[in-house]
Amino acid sequence: MKRAIFRRHGDPAEVIEVIHEPDPVPGPGQVRVRLKVMTINPADLLNIEGRYGAEPVRLPATPGVGAYGIVDMVGEGVTRLAPGDAVLPVGGGLWADAVVVHERMAPKAPDGADPEQAAMMRANPATAEIMLTGIVTLSPGDWVVQNAANSAVGRLVIRYAREKGLKTVNIVRRADVVGLLVADGADAVIVDDGGDLTAAINATTGGTAPRLALDAVGGRATAALAAAVADHGTVAVYGLLSGQDSRVGARDVVFRGVNVRGFWLADWYAQATPDQMRDLHAFLTSKLASGDTWQEVEERYPLSRVKEAVAHAARGGRNGKVLLTGDHDA
Ligand SMILES: NC(=O)c1ccc[n+]([C@@H]2O[C@H](COP(=O)([O-])OP(=O)(O)OC[C@H]3O[C@@H](n4cnc5c(N)ncnc54)[C@H](OP(=O)(O)O)[C@@H]3O)[C@@H](O)[C@H]2O)c1
Repeated sequence: MKRAIFRRHGDPAEVIEVIHEPDPVPGPGQVRVRLKVMTINPADLLNIEGRYGAEPVRLPATPGVGAYGIVDMVGEGVTRLAPGDAVLPVGGGLWADAVVVHERMAPKAPDGADPEQAAMMRANPATAEIMLTGIVTLSPGDWVVQNAANSAVGRLVIRYAREKGLKTVNIVRRADVVGLLVADGADAVIVDDGGDLTAAINATTGGTAPRLALDAVGGRATAALAAAVADHGTVAVYGLLSGQDSRVGARDVVFRGVNVRGFWLADWYAQATPDQMRDLHAFLTSKLASGDTWQEVEERYPLSRVKEAVAHAARGGRNGKVLLTGDHDA
């Protein structure tokens, strides 16, 4: 079988490599899963670069936290799963064409689920929904402003906000995606041309300042959002696409009471109550079934071409996600 590993942090396309090893055999309570689809997200690239999360990664390491696969072998004492079952393994290290995990770490994929959409279900749709419902209490008619709005998360935010009666101002960095976002239900789209973003947001919302801003960019983008939200509004920083630490104006945080905070799905999962987990699972399963977790896919690469895949995923101007496919038959 093949596995992607990195032995040191650095540019993902340079440091990622594929190694070959014998197929793993499941022990008691474990199952072997042949992975068919593996996701590549900005977080995976940050992880390889050594810029993600708080914990140092033990090297060499295998990236990958989202995948869809089929159980092909079960260990002694496994009761819940059988060969042929489609599962969405959890726990990391999933850029491999086979993994062995405890059966508890291999929840079944929803019946009839599209393998690609199911593999992507737990990260971005969950992030969009929780950021809209779990950070501030919003009411129909409230504005939410976000940047990187044509990202997978951003497009889900637009759709889920629209369903809740919220209005969205969406900041992008290229004009060719405006029509796409309007079709998704965006109320306004601003193309960031380096001008005064705060003024552009204010002009769009007609003086009703947003109560929530979602910032995936950091750097000066955070300051622009902090200046645009209402007094005592909230900016949730959830990404660092600019690679720069967030900057905010003292005027906004001190004299207008703007709350700048972070959001990290991994932390949310770690803190969630069983009820919250059940509700989120029910939400994701029903959205997957209705097609409302849909994320565009721009390209698929077999695991053996992981270097090309990560280089593609790191490029701007994509119109969808880049996925890896298991190629244990190749
Ligand atoms: N905190 C969490 O728990 C959590 C969970 C999920 C995702 N995220 C974050 O959410 C963000 C979006 O993830 P995704 O998977 O939805 O992304 P994606 O679909 O892969 O899209 C990437 C987006 O980033 C934009 N972008 C890249 N570099 C940029 C820069 N320097 N300035 C402004 N925009 C830039 C791209 O714009 P172009 O199309 O113009 O290139 C595109 O809109 C990422 O930062 C990711 O790490 C965070």
